[in-house]
Amino acid sequence: MSFSPPGNAVVEKLDPLRIPRHVAVIMDGNGRWARRRLLNRVRGHEAGAETVRHIVRASREVGIGYLTLYAFSTENWQRPTAEVSALMALLERFLKGEEAQLMENNIRLRAVGQIHRLPAGVQSVLERVTAATGANDGMNLILALSYGGRDELVAMAKNLAREAVAGRIAPEAIDADAVAAHLGTAGIPDPDLLIRTSGEMRISNFLLWQIAYAEIFFTDTLWPDFSREEFLSILGAYQRRERRFGRV
Ligand code: FPP
Repeated sequence: MSFSPPGNAVVEKLDPLRIPRHVAVIMDGNGRWARRRLLNRVRGHEAGAETVRHIVRASREVGIGYLTLYAFSTENWQRPTAEVSALMALLERFLKGEEAQLMENNIRLRAVGQIHRLPAGVQSVLERVTAATGANDGMNLILALSYGGRDELVAMAKNLAREAVAGRIAPEAIDADAVAAHLGTAGIPDPDLLIRTSGEMRISNFLLWQIAYAEIFFTDTLWPDFSREEFLSILGAYQRRERRFGRV
């Protein structure tokens, strides 16, 4: 089901007691946004980074505890080298440019994914900003970088198998909590709400284990055009859904 934003910018009245604890976003459509304007795809990613800034701000304002953004998937390495390099450079610039804002707004930065595959410059700024913001407790901003859900599950299986072989965990003792504790997202609550922009209705290997009970919203809006108003309107629609977790 696709989500249509209201025609006029309606400012949602949100119930402060039912703000989703964790919102995850598949930020899609930067390339199409650029193509429609006859611009290079990289310009689309740059515009997308602006959207990241205002969605982070809105999330902090409404009291979301965890915001996870799919910024680069394991599959994205297969894009043309120039686009991958431009995305990495953009990410590095973004992190350097946002460090002060993150501190000022009490936001903790975290990263999930194959961080070791990222260029050294990105790794070092990530390390610095995650350390600098480590004690912030206003909101967690989690960037999924070189992230793939299947890859994360394979790594989890290997780790649990190693622990079982070493005698640190009995195979019978492996339960859902043990699995969750061996994922890159260990300690982070599961997303309550997943949003994907740009009209594609796929999960694309994002947080496969973690979204088991997430409410999912798809919108046709391309990520660079995704506004604070539409975001708040999706939060309002989320609050009107009844979550049953398999019960009646
Ligand atoms: C998908 O659009 C988007 C990406 C692969 C990258 C997302 C990156 C950003 C939003 C900007 C940088 C991120 C941060 C955190 C500063 P697409 O290129 O697949 O679009 P298309 O499907 O229209 O081609």
